[in-house]
Amino acid sequence: MSAIASPVPPAHPVTDVPPVVEEVLEDAERAALIARIKQLLKAQDAVLVAHYYTSGDLQRLAEETGGCVSDSLEMARFGHAAKASTLVVAGVRFMGETAKILNPEKRVLMPDLGAECSLDLSCPAEEFIPFCDAHPDRTVVVYANTSAAVKARADWVVTSSIAVRVVQHLKERGEKILWAPDRYLGDYVQRVTGADMLLWQGACVVHEKFKAEGIRELKRQHPEAAILVHPESPPEVIAMADVVGSTTQLIRAVETLPNPSFIVATDIGIFHKMHAVAPHKLLIEAPSGGKGATCVSCAHCPWMAMNGLRKLAHVLETGENEIHVPEDICRRAARPINRMLEFAGQQSIPVLGRSGE
Ligand code: 13P
Ligand code: SF4
Repeated sequence: MSAIASPVPPAHPVTDVPPVVEEVLEDAERAALIARIKQLLKAQDAVLVAHYYTSGDLQRLAEETGGCVSDSLEMARFGHAAKASTLVVAGVRFMGETAKILNPEKRVLMPDLGAECSLDLSCPAEEFIPFCDAHPDRTVVVYANTSAAVKARADWVVTSSIAVRVVQHLKERGEKILWAPDRYLGDYVQRVTGADMLLWQGACVVHEKFKAEGIRELKRQHPEAAILVHPESPPEVIAMADVVGSTTQLIRAVETLPNPSFIVATDIGIFHKMHAVAPHKLLIEAPSGGKGATCVSCAHCPWMAMNGLRKLAHVLETGENEIHVPEDICRRAARPINRMLEFAGQQSIPVLGRSGE
């Protein structure tokens, strides 16, 4: 008899969500920090890899210094290909860990080790592993937004851009899935593929707050706008989307679709790159809980916001905030990540694009 009675696991409650605190800089300090960081990157043989949800300053700096701006796995793949011996990951902790797993010989630093992710926090390994053990008949598929220890227990790691293809493939092989941690992405994948999926009940504190009614109202005001939705959003929001996709896929939609305007349901950090690829298009924030309303983090991830130029300069100067992953976990977590990368390669699927591609 398993210790877990319910077929649907509760997620670990995530209560300690910090407020969104953006770095505020005067122009002179910004310019001085950027110049200093450029010197330090060279001196430390380091390269900056940043996620699309980080500040425009960090994204610009990554591109100007030969780093990259992308989503998490491409950040790691980029780091692997890069000659630099140090990777500085501006993003959240699981991104730094993934970079380390795929590049164990490199030093991986992060501006703030407190930059968590509510999906990762909702799925601690000590709760997840017994749940997997209680369902040995299921293939364990986890989203990239998980700890190294959770990945080490998985058969597959997926990103939002490839989740449907991987699960479709597993379903065709007759496999039943245990999915973690995002219940909305899991529900979306389940509806598209029809696979038998048991879903961990985690959620992203940013995306779960997008409101279908508010988006409907915006669409009435902007009937020409395409609605772009990240699949970590609730099903009624996904149902309204013209495009459901990863950050890279949503950026590509803005670049390539003929619409003059877009209603965007994902973290507002993405607007930096969207404006860059389509400067003449109108980008409209999808409403979430609203300022002062029920959401703790209205359309901006409080943990992504912990990254900034001051902290970046500090870690390059001191070598603090290095990511360490125990060797055994690193080795086991690399297997399901590499399985996904090989699958993507065989099917000629660009797992994740990155800026400049
Ligand atoms: P992407 O892989 O689409 O960039 O998503 C990462 C993420 O954390 C979204 O909230
Ligand atoms: Fe995690 Fe959501 Fe932040 Fe992405 S936006 S890192 S899923 S909390």
